[in-house]
Amino acid sequence: MASSDNGKALARLIGTLPVDNVQALASTLSDSDHIPTRYIRPEAESEPIIIPGDAGDDVIPVIDFHKLLDPELSDAESSKLDLACQNWGFFQLINHHVPEEVIQTMMFVTEEFFKLPLDEKMLFKQPPGQVEGYGQMFIFSEEQKLDWADILFFYTFPLHVRKIGLWPTNPSTFRDALDEYSMEVKKLTNCLLGFMAKNLGIAPAEMATMLENGAQRMRINCYPPCPEVKKVLGLSPHSDASFLTLLLQVNDVPGLQIRRNDKWFPVKPLPGAFVANIGDALEILSNGKYKSIEHRAVTNAEKERFSIAAFHGPNTDATIGPHPELVLRDEPLYKSIDYESYMKLYFASKYERKSFLGRMKLNK
Ligand code: OGA
Ligand code: NI
Repeated sequence: MASSDNGKALARLIGTLPVDNVQALASTLSDSDHIPTRYIRPEAESEPIIIPGDAGDDVIPVIDFHKLLDPELSDAESSKLDLACQNWGFFQLINHHVPEEVIQTMMFVTEEFFKLPLDEKMLFKQPPGQVEGYGQMFIFSEEQKLDWADILFFYTFPLHVRKIGLWPTNPSTFRDALDEYSMEVKKLTNCLLGFMAKNLGIAPAEMATMLENGAQRMRINCYPPCPEVKKVLGLSPHSDASFLTLLLQVNDVPGLQIRRNDKWFPVKPLPGAFVANIGDALEILSNGKYKSIEHRAVTNAEKERFSIAAFHGPNTDATIGPHPELVLRDEPLYKSIDYESYMKLYFASKYERKSFLGRMKLNK
């Protein structure tokens, strides 16, 4: 199959069932109201959360992109990056060179879109059987528990898979903002993946080839306030399918938590930083050296929260599997599978912790 056909097939992946709009639901709730049971998540309360400060020196690593590019400082920063990928699977990225204006514009259009009346947002709702547009994802049954969030989801790269017709036109700058933002974030990610490849013993040029027509998906999350924050989840525990995800915190409301030592570790984003995380595909490519960490998002009682996740994968005709160099001496721990089948399996799986990655493991 030509790669453009692969791309189109990928963009027509398994759909998701429609669900109620959470922003609209949240706006009708007063403190004494009860949340519909489909949103009540007993596990949200029962699993231990690290109270900020209790973890001592355990702080999420900070990587300085500027230092990575500086010939004098690059080696030391690159080693730090390598350790962050092995020990945390998450890091914050500062001095990332994405122009401030591009970020501010993307944040602005995000907030403006979600401020629109429901019927205007619904003009961009997911068409039946599709995942792109305004709605929610990974819903396969009427009984399934639901996340306290509404999302926008788009395939932004390769260019030919874009369905521009589904991108909002209100605010009028939305499409341009997403176009520019997606381009900048992709450039940055490709560069970071080059450093990661080198650290793993994979030729950076080979990584660059793998990313030439690399996939990028954008998930714009809106977490409405919830009067019973402890009973709901904004985003179920999951790991990302990507090589690398860059998350932008749009306003200063925290909510991201990562699984660390069997507890939930809240991430406090640094102003202007991206939160980067390793996805399942890079854990597989690195044959387990780099870790795709389970994470989730909680909501806030008073404030709405927004975040933008940019997921990056390889060319749509690539194979996902342990890199041949890395299994010359070590046993391969994961299956190899073509990227299209890999993504189909991912989208057909519920957001259930790391269950998808578990199915990619050999001898399990
Ligand atoms: C995601 C994600 C976390 C957040 O969209 O995959 O993990 O804080 N988002 O919104
Ligand atoms: Ni995620």
